[in-house]
Amino acid sequence: MIRLIPQPLSVTENTGAFVKASDFTVTRKTLSVKQCDESYSLYIKADGITICASSEKGFFYAEKTLEQIISFYGDLIPVCTVNDSPRFEYRGFMIDCARHMFSVDELKKMIDVAASLKFNRFHWHLADDQGFRIELKCYPELTRLGSVRAGDRFGKNLQSDKPYGGFYTQKEISEIVDFCRKRFIDVIPELDVPGHSSALLHVFPELGCGGKNVSVKMSNGIFKDVLCVGEEKTETVIRNIVSELCELFPGEYFHIGGDEVPRDNWKNCPKCRSLAESAGIHDLDGLQQLFINSVAAFLQEKGKTVIGWNECLKGGKLNGGMVIERWLDPKGLAVKAANNGRIIIAAPLKPYYADYPYAIYSLKKVYLYEPTDIKGLTESGKENVLGTESPIWTEFINSCASLEAHCFPRWFAVAESAWSIPENKSYREFASASVKLCEALHSRGINCTLPSGWNPTGIKRLCESAAFLSNFSTTGK
Ligand code: ACM
Ligand code: ZN
Repeated sequence: MIRLIPQPLSVTENTGAFVKASDFTVTRKTLSVKQCDESYSLYIKADGITICASSEKGFFYAEKTLEQIISFYGDLIPVCTVNDSPRFEYRGFMIDCARHMFSVDELKKMIDVAASLKFNRFHWHLADDQGFRIELKCYPELTRLGSVRAGDRFGKNLQSDKPYGGFYTQKEISEIVDFCRKRFIDVIPELDVPGHSSALLHVFPELGCGGKNVSVKMSNGIFKDVLCVGEEKTETVIRNIVSELCELFPGEYFHIGGDEVPRDNWKNCPKCRSLAESAGIHDLDGLQQLFINSVAAFLQEKGKTVIGWNECLKGGKLNGGMVIERWLDPKGLAVKAANNGRIIIAAPLKPYYADYPYAIYSLKKVYLYEPTDIKGLTESGKENVLGTESPIWTEFINSCASLEAHCFPRWFAVAESAWSIPENKSYREFASASVKLCEALHSRGINCTLPSGWNPTGIKRLCESAAFLSNFSTTGK
């Protein structure tokens, strides 16, 4: 039986018949019938190999499928017909390059594997409390000073007194965007506001309530240094930054964060209070939403579809066009929103946060998670799940080898839930195909976690979990 990752919609085999792939050049047939532009058919026959699709995207996915078949079987490949189409329109992976940076070549390596798994959205987390990693022409000082922190107080193995810094030049960003475009991946930049903004405030202290000096943070955590939403200049600076980013990132989506915003400083800030009063707002949720709505509207005028984390829903009056990325939804706001027509992306911390160890979110757990199986989500709400995404946060991940080991093979599992219909899923079959895919990727220099590490049990599970969780208690600023 031919078992691929992600498993195609249908595979019909002529059991026992094989052809030599190197005997043929692949014939392309463009279909004029309108179908999903990511769909394709692949025919491997005794007299040749043909791929059919209605667009370049479809041909691309057909080629990825053929490549995987060759990597599993070698030159002698099985005669078969594959008819394939994705389950979800949005199939995302997120890499946090603010806490630790990865080189352009390292990112390309990750993106290349992701493309072969048929992911089509790269959510690039580029700015946070611990670093601002974009070259900006409008604010060169933000790049120069906001990209450097004085040292590291991350997990107990990553403590250092050496300054840590770096950023992506505009040329490098365009190189990544172009690399992704060729693989039909849309790059979604994230500028996380109004929280997670210490790097911005380090350079522009006047954008914080009270204008005090703020450091680029050296540890993980949620910090009270957030943007002052009552300060007029805040809006101006953010608009200038996102305008420049829109030039760099021509894709459909723009992510504005909105998660984990302690509003303590807003309570006693005359500017924030005055804004709330003039807008007739009586609570902090409303004030946060006023800011988010304003940034979102500005981006929408530039033609962007704006995404925010689920905290953006607090306040009850979020901009109607915003898409919500659901990561932790204790009050069920994202579920309610989806039931009422809002488009959401399922990016559940449990079990899709790939920075957690396999001991906590095992390969099997990740595989068995069903993106629309969310408590309280109605049938019509399920229709509003645009897709799914797995983020990897990098406070405790400072090398590409570690990044790869965390993501692969767990991103195989996410890819399969994003692309394949649930009826075609089976953990047993998936795990055995994962062994082959890991071997193929190892030979390309990708550090996939070995099968013995996929589903830790007993003492191994306890030790790995404890080692990870202990990182959270050894930090300081
Ligand atoms: C998040 O993990 N704070 C989105
Ligand atoms: Zn303020």
